[in-house]
Amino acid sequence: MYRSHNCGELNASNINTEVTLAGWVQKSRDKGFMNWVDLRDRYGITQLIFDESRTDKTVFELAKTLGREFVIQVKGTVIEREAKNKNIPTGEIEILVSELTILNSAITPPFTIEDETDGGEDIRMKYRYLDIRRNPVKNSLLFRHKVAMEVRKYLSDLDFCEVETPYLIKSTPEGARDFVVPSRMNEGQFYALPQSPQTFKQLLMVGGMDKYFQIVKCFRDEDLRADRQPEFTQIDCEMAFVEQEDILNIFEGLTRHLLKEIKGIEVDKFPRITYDYAMKTYGNDKPDIRFGMKFGELNEFAQHKEFPVFNAAELVVGIAVPGAGNYTRKEIDGLIDWVKRPQVGASGMVYVKCNEDGTFKSSVDKFYDNDDLANWAKATEANPGDMIFVLSGPANKTRAQLSALRMELATRLGLRNPEEFAPLWVVDFPLLELDEESGRYHAMHHPFTSPKPEDMALLETEPGKVRANAYDMVLNGNEIGGGSIRIHDKATQQLMFKYLGFTEEEAKAQFGFLMDAFQFGAPPHGGLAFGLDRLVAILGGQETIRDFIAFPKNNSGRDVMIDAPAAIDDAQLKELKIKVDIA
Ligand code: AMO
Repeated sequence: MYRSHNCGELNASNINTEVTLAGWVQKSRDKGFMNWVDLRDRYGITQLIFDESRTDKTVFELAKTLGREFVIQVKGTVIEREAKNKNIPTGEIEILVSELTILNSAITPPFTIEDETDGGEDIRMKYRYLDIRRNPVKNSLLFRHKVAMEVRKYLSDLDFCEVETPYLIKSTPEGARDFVVPSRMNEGQFYALPQSPQTFKQLLMVGGMDKYFQIVKCFRDEDLRADRQPEFTQIDCEMAFVEQEDILNIFEGLTRHLLKEIKGIEVDKFPRITYDYAMKTYGNDKPDIRFGMKFGELNEFAQHKEFPVFNAAELVVGIAVPGAGNYTRKEIDGLIDWVKRPQVGASGMVYVKCNEDGTFKSSVDKFYDNDDLANWAKATEANPGDMIFVLSGPANKTRAQLSALRMELATRLGLRNPEEFAPLWVVDFPLLELDEESGRYHAMHHPFTSPKPEDMALLETEPGKVRANAYDMVLNGNEIGGGSIRIHDKATQQLMFKYLGFTEEEAKAQFGFLMDAFQFGAPPHGGLAFGLDRLVAILGGQETIRDFIAFPKNNSGRDVMIDAPAAIDDAQLKELKIKVDIA
């Protein structure tokens, strides 16, 4: 037996017990006649003591050879500590060691294995297994496990059945590029790794599984960001014989369950807003509603005056920033420079100070009087002491710019408290989205999403206006999940592919299996998928998903620990009959 206890569980009630522990040497303090060693494992740290007067001489001498991260096993007696440490559960005791076995030595780690480490991101990624020994990373993985267990429990209790779907498949269109895998047995042919199990879960509904879920890896070859990884995990769900309302209720229930069990927080019924409202009010389809600063559209009050910039704009829109009325000229100029950066792209910004006495002072006083500005203040719900910032230009671009400013100001003002949770549903997404480059319409969610029946007629005339039975769950400004009610008949699915620019042959070649299945009695069905990594990160109070993934990729999609991706040798290429020709 390697150990009788772990390193986190012994306390004063165990005094005088003989124990065996195993773990890593966190550090040792050698005072010559006395040597203390902190022994660490996943569960905590226990102090060992080697005392010249009480410890066997060979054991005492061996302890002096221990280096950081040596793996050892000790036998000894739990005794009361002289200098107690109230900060750790084992802080009242220590182990007077009688036997010491070095199970493995260790070379000096490239960074300190402590909560506050001296290791930078790159080196910690290269030695991720050492990083996992540190509390912040270890605790994130344990936290993720806890969330996943609660998800499984909640869904299983509601009769959802976890079914595994294949990884070697054909392309599933979720808007990213596929990772492909060559097939040795089928020369010149490739599998695609699933961007999601979308078509399979729909086929499970045709198969009568009724309520499916899966905690499943998905693969997308897309540009990486803090909340994106090329392989990530979904809580993927599908149900038969449901309407949108059923889905929203069940998965709102799941989220509420998680907030309660994991964070001890009770939340009210989630607000539901339409996509149009979200874009108009927050400039964003994943609004952070922990704070206000809603958009006020000002065309009515700002145009037809003498200010040519606003007169020429499609949209004039502003936000009132609480308590920012006293910003200095320098601070304001700094913000103007911020919105003018290429990443935001505004050409300029107008500001209005809302004075405590009800008057206003603006950068456009030449064109607008106090009554005009009072209207702006009303439209942006500004209070005395606030500052209104106004942008103008093409509607969509301007909204996106103001949204970026809103988020930046909220961060600067400390309004994005990670321990506050503000979930909501965004519903009625457009079915299609115009790709400016190709001039073609794409499915905004995916091509299996059903249009709202009342908008079907618009498909021919104004496709961009057709709304879908599609919804996203948003938490603290992040899209944590999305789904839709699906098309479940062949004719509509065929029509949808036609509108998306597929020829009949292309549609048949790619998705014939699904349309075939729809002919054999496909039930009405719908579902959604949560991004588990994102959900866990946000519940854990962070926005970077990397720390909640045991072995993540870096920003270039590389695993720097195992050095992947990598070239493969000629023999393997030959076997796969693949010619690599890098110009
Ligand atoms: P969607 O593409 O919206 O829907 O994905 C669902 C959720 O997965 C998360 N997500 C990601 N997380 C980390 N890294 C990524 N690269 C990444 N991409 C997506 C997001 C997102 O909300 N099949 C549909 C679901 C359905 O219709 O049922 C789908 O995959 O949190």
